[in-house]
Amino acid sequence: MALIDKHAVLEKNATLLLIFSLLVVSIGGIVEIAPLFYLENTIEDVEGVRPYSPLELAGRNIYIREGCYVCHSQMIRPMRDEVERYGHYSLAAESQYDHPFQWGSKRTGPDLARVGGRYSDEWQVDHLMDPQSVVPESVMPKYAFLMKRDMTPDSSNSYIVDNMRVNRMVGVPYTDEQMEAAELDFWSQADPWGDFYEDADGDALLERYPGAQVRNFDGQPQVTEMDALVAYLQVLGTMVDFETFTPAPGR
Ligand code: HEC
Repeated sequence: MALIDKHAVLEKNATLLLIFSLLVVSIGGIVEIAPLFYLENTIEDVEGVRPYSPLELAGRNIYIREGCYVCHSQMIRPMRDEVERYGHYSLAAESQYDHPFQWGSKRTGPDLARVGGRYSDEWQVDHLMDPQSVVPESVMPKYAFLMKRDMTPDSSNSYIVDNMRVNRMVGVPYTDEQMEAAELDFWSQADPWGDFYEDADGDALLERYPGAQVRNFDGQPQVTEMDALVAYLQVLGTMVDFETFTPAPGR
């Protein structure tokens, strides 16, 4: 019997065909899925990517709370129009410490994955307070109230530490040292010279969070939600140095 005739047996018997189809699909499935159980991590490590500093993390929570993701994505696809407009396409590693990630697909406003460093702090503050004052045709809402929401030591200290603790629980590798210094680092980033918080230590913060931007972001003496949100926006997409980055072979 020729091979083709043997195949006819399968084609004429629905039950047999079903059994063999399932067999083929299962083999394919196992080949794809089984290796994932043995891999520690499917995200390649990329130099420069680090967990968010306490201030950046607090800003990220404000970003989520205010629903910025409803209008803004944070993922640049590797398509030419996107790369030319926003910069290097997003790497998996760049959002590996994002819980939850903010990729999104809705772009009422531009993608924000690489907005860090694109504008000055003043621009960011003016724009958040009154978007139409800098971009007249903008449909973005105003967030001026963030300037008035102090993140005073009494009300937000345990919040800052809890924030990091939860992130650590879901896999962000904050060290014990970083946990212990959480409050100090929070104040140090927005007031590195201790003008208002005596113990502030910008250098120690930079050792724990290389490349963090330390300064007064909103121009007001007290640390507000505006400071936190702008600190977060200014770090977006800046951790990896794309001048020196080369993708691992096969990716
Ligand atoms: C109703 C939709 C909407 C919401 C909600 C919204 N934005 Fe926007 N955003 C826009 C639009 C439209 C633009 C483009 C016009 C402009 O620059 O204002 C924009 C622009 C921006 C820009 C400038 C980006 C660039 O590359 O020029 C930033 C930064 C930004 N938004 C941050 C935020 C943050 C942070 C929040 C949450 C606090 C937020 N947006 C909420 C619609 C929105």
